[in-house]
Amino acid sequence: MIAKPDFDRYRLAAEYIREKVAVEPEVAVILGSSLGGIAELVAGRVSVSYRDIPGFLLSTNPSHAGKLVFGTLGNRPAVVMSGRFHFYEGYSYTELALPVRVLSLLGVKTLIVTNAAGGVNLSFQVGDIMVISDHIKLTGASPMSGPNAEEFGSRFFDVSKLYSPRLRKLAFETAASLTPPLQLREGVYYYCPGPQFETPAEIRAIRALGGDAVGMSTVTETLTAGHAGMEVLGFSLITNMAAGILDQPLSDEEVGVAARASADKLGSLIEGVIANM
Ligand code: HPA
Repeated sequence: MIAKPDFDRYRLAAEYIREKVAVEPEVAVILGSSLGGIAELVAGRVSVSYRDIPGFLLSTNPSHAGKLVFGTLGNRPAVVMSGRFHFYEGYSYTELALPVRVLSLLGVKTLIVTNAAGGVNLSFQVGDIMVISDHIKLTGASPMSGPNAEEFGSRFFDVSKLYSPRLRKLAFETAASLTPPLQLREGVYYYCPGPQFETPAEIRAIRALGGDAVGMSTVTETLTAGHAGMEVLGFSLITNMAAGILDQPLSDEEVGVAARASADKLGSLIEGVIANM
């Protein structure tokens, strides 16, 4: 017996949020680990904790808060997901579709995803921001595995422009207009489910396959958003050089320190992009 998609679960979560919050968000931002400070840019903040939303998922990772923050960002009604969910926490790929589907039911049309990532491209440096041009996910199932939720999109869907060319261009224009101007990178995000960091041999393979940055998140969300017809923009903050590039072990602390050090510039960029959208 194949289970039906959890449409009622999505709907109940969205109804609960609508009763609590008057903001009707057009745009959603999902914050990567240790980037929670960006939620403080939201004006007129009203927060809803994940644990209070019926049927929502719970963050198990201490570097992710666990709340939706509603308000105004870049002068638009917005919601920030401070705390995201990963396969390595034990969620199934199908469950990982839930948050973005709830955002879709709340009216979100544009999704901006952020993550902390390892630099695979040897010209990258810690602190760089990479605009995601595309992703590679050669592992695991899809968040759209199982019966199709027709309410959101069709069974087989096109992902050839998953990362909106229009929004990517806007990101570069916005970055150039900031004071001081922000230099961005662009490249391919390679998804590894973790929780272990990659081996040096995996990183060499990822580079040969065309990956520029590597991380454990984001693609489940962007696939769900693409299925639901949202426009997507993604930023990877390079928090470390990937395994085997430097002769030092990788650590969560290193990732957290680098992410917090660059959160302000990424926040200004996101705010500017939304204002220019
Ligand atoms: N690999 C995978 N995920 C990551 C990394 C990395 O090097 N850095 C931050 N998130």
